[in-house]
Order: sequence, then C-alpha cells, then structure tokens
Amino acid sequence: MQRPVEIISATAVAARIEDLARNIDAQLPPGPLTVVGVLRGAFVFMADLVRAIPRDITCDFLGVRSYGDATVSTGVVEIKSDLSTPLEHRHVLLVEDIVDTGLTLKYLLDVLAARGPASLHTCALLSKPSRRQIEVPVDFVGFEVPDEFVVGYGMDAGQLFRNLPYIGVMKS
Ligand code: IMP
Ligand code: MG
Repeated sequence: MQRPVEIISATAVAARIEDLARNIDAQLPPGPLTVVGVLRGAFVFMADLVRAIPRDITCDFLGVRSYGDATVSTGVVEIKSDLSTPLEHRHVLLVEDIVDTGLTLKYLLDVLAARGPASLHTCALLSKPSRRQIEVPVDFVGFEVPDEFVVGYGMDAGQLFRNLPYIGVMKS
C-alpha cells in the first residue's frame, strides 16, 4: 500500500485543538458535558479534545459503520454499538473525525436529538465541504480539507494509519 503524505502536522493539530476547546467551552451552556465520540475514527481526536476542555465531562461512544473498508460512502449508516448512558437533560457534544458527505453526522444527530438532550452540538476535526450531499450543522470544525482521502490521527484507509500522529493524504 502507498504511504500517506503529511498535510497537517501533529503540532498544528495540537494547536488547533486548544482553540476548539476554548471555543466549545465559551459557547456551550454552562454545566457538565457528555462528549459522544463516533468510533472508530474519532477516538484519538476525542482523547485530546476532552483533556483540553476544563469542565466536568463524561465520555461515551457510538460505533458506526458507514463505508465498510471502501473509500467511498455508501450512504448507509449502521449503529454497531450504542451509547451506554442516557442523554436526557444532558448537554451533549457529538465528536466526529471528518464530515464528508454529511450523511453519517445527519443520521446520528437525528438519533441523538430524539433522546431529549438539554443541548446538542457537533464538532469535527475535519470537514470536506465540497463533498457535502446533505446540509448538516457542524458547530466546531478543526480544518477544512480538499476532496482527497485523508488518514492518520484516528482516521484509516483499510483500517491502517490510525496511529499516525499527523494527518496525511493518500496519493494515487
Ligand atoms: P460521511 O460521508 O460524512 O457520512 O462520512 C462518514 C465517515 O466516513 C466519517 O465519519 C469518516 O469516518 C469516514 N471518512 C470520510 N472521509 C474520509 C477520509 O477522507 N478519510 C478517512 N475516513 C473518511
Ligand atoms: Mg467516522
């Protein structure tokens, strides 16, 4: 398999997460927060993000499958493992690695909104706006990236490269 080419350094990612955390803390209603990470891609980002938000935080995870091991969205979202805690009356931040077509985030937002949270916001490390197929609010975005397949910092190509400390692209 080809090797990824770095487009965003580990240092740049870390600096941007500090900004995101500050904005999130300033803009969300005060009080304890439940951060919901979308597995598997968001686990690295979420680990760094929650440590930068100075509040009482509980963490939960949703396991979804939207692509299989392909690099093109099928538009079908399947919840493989659900949250282990109720969201009712909680302030909730849904954390994604990347918003591409928007289909996954839109689906998950609708599912979580139906569970009666006190507030519901979304945060994605990356966004590919040129690829959007459906309008979905992303309240906090780390970086906008062009229409290329990105890996690293939690994101994979065929389950590889999640452990890279930087964000790279697969060049064909
Ligand atoms: P969606 O097309 O917005 O529904 O994207 C769904 C999911 O596909 C994201 O949460 C990612 O996990 C994954 N994904 C989308 N684009 C990329 C990419 O460039 N690299 C790695 N994963 C991606
Ligand atoms: Mg994902």
